[in-house]
Amino acid sequence: MKLLQHFDVAGKRVLVRVDFNVPLDKKTGEIADDRRIRSALATIEYLIGQRAKVILLSHLGRPDGRWVESLRMTKVAADLFHLLNRKVHAANDCVGPAVLTQALALQPGEVLLLENLRFHSEEESNDPEFAQALAQLGEVYVNDAFSASHREHASIVGIARLLPSCAGFLMQKEVNYLRDPMESPESPFVVISGGAKVSDKLVFLDRLLEKVDTLLIGGGMAFTFLKAQGRQIGDSLCEDSLLEKAKEILHQAEQVGVELLLPIDVVVAQTMEEGVPSKVVSIENIPAGYKGLDIGPRTRVLFTERIQCARTIVWNGPVGVFENPSFAEGTQAVAAAMAASNATTIVGGGDSAAAVDRFGLAAYMSHVSMGGGASLEFLEGRILPGIAVLEDSR
Ligand code: 3PG
Repeated sequence: MKLLQHFDVAGKRVLVRVDFNVPLDKKTGEIADDRRIRSALATIEYLIGQRAKVILLSHLGRPDGRWVESLRMTKVAADLFHLLNRKVHAANDCVGPAVLTQALALQPGEVLLLENLRFHSEEESNDPEFAQALAQLGEVYVNDAFSASHREHASIVGIARLLPSCAGFLMQKEVNYLRDPMESPESPFVVISGGAKVSDKLVFLDRLLEKVDTLLIGGGMAFTFLKAQGRQIGDSLCEDSLLEKAKEILHQAEQVGVELLLPIDVVVAQTMEEGVPSKVVSIENIPAGYKGLDIGPRTRVLFTERIQCARTIVWNGPVGVFENPSFAEGTQAVAAAMAASNATTIVGGGDSAAAVDRFGLAAYMSHVSMGGGASLEFLEGRILPGIAVLEDSR
C-alpha cells in the first residue's frame, strides 16, 4: 500500500474515509463508546499539522439509503470537536453543490465532516457517479477505515480508483498487527477463539491449524466441538449441521500436532438472563435443561497457563456471555492473562474488543482492532477490497 507519510498533502483537500460507525445508546441516542473516533485522531491530527484541508467521510449504522434523523453525524461532530479541541465544520449531506462549495472554501488545517454516506443507497452499491461526486470534493484520498474495508462501497473502493490514494495510520497499524502473527508468529503462538457460532469461524480455524501451537476454544462454539466428541451438552448452543466438520477440525489438529483445548468445566444456567441461578459443573455433568454460558474456574486456570507461556496471542470472540456479570469471569480471566503477558497480544475486534474495554484492560494489549467483521476476514486470509484497491493504486 502507499502510505500517508509518503504523500505531500500540504494545502490539499484530503478526503479521509474514517469509520465513525460508533455504537449509540438505545435509550438516549448518545455515543456509547467513541473508541473508533479516538483511534482516527492520529491521522486527522497529522493532516492538520501538515496544513491539509481535511474532509472526513463515514457511515453510521445501517440506514439503507434512507434519511434517518437519529443516524445523522451531529453527535459525532460534537465528539470530534471535543477531542480535537478545534472547530469541526459539519456538512448537511455528503455530495451535491452545497457540500462542494463548503469543501472548496476550506482553509489549510480546517476540518469538514460530511453527513452519513449511507443516506445514499449509491454508497453501498458502489455507484460510479456517486463515487465521482465524492471524489471531486478532494485531491487525495486516505483510507483509515480498516474496519469498513471488507465492504466494496463507493467511499472505500470507488473513490480510491479516482484519486491518488493511500493508507492512513490506523489502517497501517491494523494491517501490520493483524498480518504479522498470521504470517510469522513468534512461537508459542496461542489463539483463543470464542463467540457463539462455529460457522462464523470455520475459515479462521482452518487457516489457524497451519500456524498455531495451541488453540483454546470457548464460548458457545465450544459446545459443537464437545458434542462432536460425544458429550452431553444439555441445552447449550450447538450447530448440529457442523458436527462432522468439528470432528474433522479436532482430527486435523491432532494430525498436525496443534494442542486444541476445550473447556473442562463450565458455568451453566437455565437461561442467560441477569440474576438467574447458575452453577459450575464439570464437562461430563451438564444437566439436561441447562446451557453452558461461561468457562468454569478449572478451565480459566488451564487457559491462563497457556496464555502465560505464549509469545504471540490472538484473541477473537468472548468465551462466555460476558455482558451478564454472572457469566463474565471466563472472558475477564482471558483478558487479564493477556494484559499481564509480555507477548504480542492482539484482540481481534468486535465483542472481544468491547470486553477488553469494559474490563479496563485495552491499554495493556499490543493492539485492539477496531474491526469486527473486517478483522475476522483479514485473519482468515481474505483480501479486503478496500486494501486491495490501495495496493492496485500502487
Ligand atoms: C463495522 O461496524 O463492522 C463497520 O463499520 C462496518 O459496518 P457494516 O457491518 O454495517 O457494514
